[in-house]
Amino acid sequence: MQNLDAILQEALAQFKRTEDAATLEQVKSHYLGKSGVLTGLLKGLGKLPAKQRPAEGQRINQAKETLEAALEDRRNALKARKLEAQLAQDALDVTLPGRGLGVGGLHPVTRTLERIETLFKSMGFMIAEGPEIETDYYNFTALNQPENHPARSMHDTFYLDDGKHLLRTHTSPIQIRYMEKHKPPLKIIAPGRVYRVDLDATHSPMFHQIEGLWVDEQVSFSDLKGVVSEFLLRFFEREDLKVRFRPSFFPFTEPSAEVDMSFGEGWLEVGGCGMVHPNVFKYVNIDSEKYQGFAFGLGPDRLAMLRYGVKDLRLFFENDLRFLRQFN
Ligand code: FA5
Repeated sequence: MQNLDAILQEALAQFKRTEDAATLEQVKSHYLGKSGVLTGLLKGLGKLPAKQRPAEGQRINQAKETLEAALEDRRNALKARKLEAQLAQDALDVTLPGRGLGVGGLHPVTRTLERIETLFKSMGFMIAEGPEIETDYYNFTALNQPENHPARSMHDTFYLDDGKHLLRTHTSPIQIRYMEKHKPPLKIIAPGRVYRVDLDATHSPMFHQIEGLWVDEQVSFSDLKGVVSEFLLRFFEREDLKVRFRPSFFPFTEPSAEVDMSFGEGWLEVGGCGMVHPNVFKYVNIDSEKYQGFAFGLGPDRLAMLRYGVKDLRLFFENDLRFLRQFN
């Protein structure tokens, strides 16, 4: 059994060379398996003279133990190497730039509304509000449009199924609600969402309005022109801004006008206005011999379009972040 040492050295060398666990197990069974080299040697002991058997058996068993220990070492080494490779792969690179927090921003129409409120507050107006789901009475009747009044068809109205309610078509019902509860002098603006069956580049089925109302003993049409023009000038901060009041009709004002504005290329209608109709004062028990006032309703979405140079109103309400992010 001179070659036992040679076998042992060869086996140890092979373990060392083996680079993966599966091959290592193959090498193991070549030497230590049921029909492996060392097992063969042990089986061959029977052929030796009885005297030599114990010493030779011991040598082989020692070699076996040495191999098993070396095998275990190699197994552990390969396991450690694999773990290290995995860790390296999954490593967290703490030097990479962070993703940061997604900071939100205000919608351009919200910004516009806030700006409008600030400007009117600086002119002494208070803010009032009203419900988006209205009754026929506040949206039409008390605004001097009784049932069957032809002016009702000017608005394409969304009616609720109960037949009693509707989505307000303008912010003017807030005038009525406010005057029911407050007595003159009063000076308010009322921003809010309104709804109409309407859709094109300058009309959206949901849009915003800002109602204005100033009632006192001596409020004139020239006050109306002054307030609306001054507001538009401050809002746009542009010297080339032109404002015109075009005679028009609203059942709840008399006389009435449409407010148009321009930066030189064509006019865009941004609101309606006029002197509060005496019939409206009657509905809210305000003495129209003593008090008078003006009202206006501006379209802030259109003001936002003009201020930011947006050509299509619908972009504001499509919620495309690529569009909305440009305003923040
Ligand atoms: C009214 O709604 C009146 N209540 C305004 C008013 C108030 C007049 C007080 C007199 C006294 P009108 O339907 O014209 O008026 O609408 C007012 C403004 O809202 C328009 O000038 C326009 O700027 C805006 N607007 C109207 N329809 C739409 C729409 N579908 N989409 C976006 N803006 C609109």
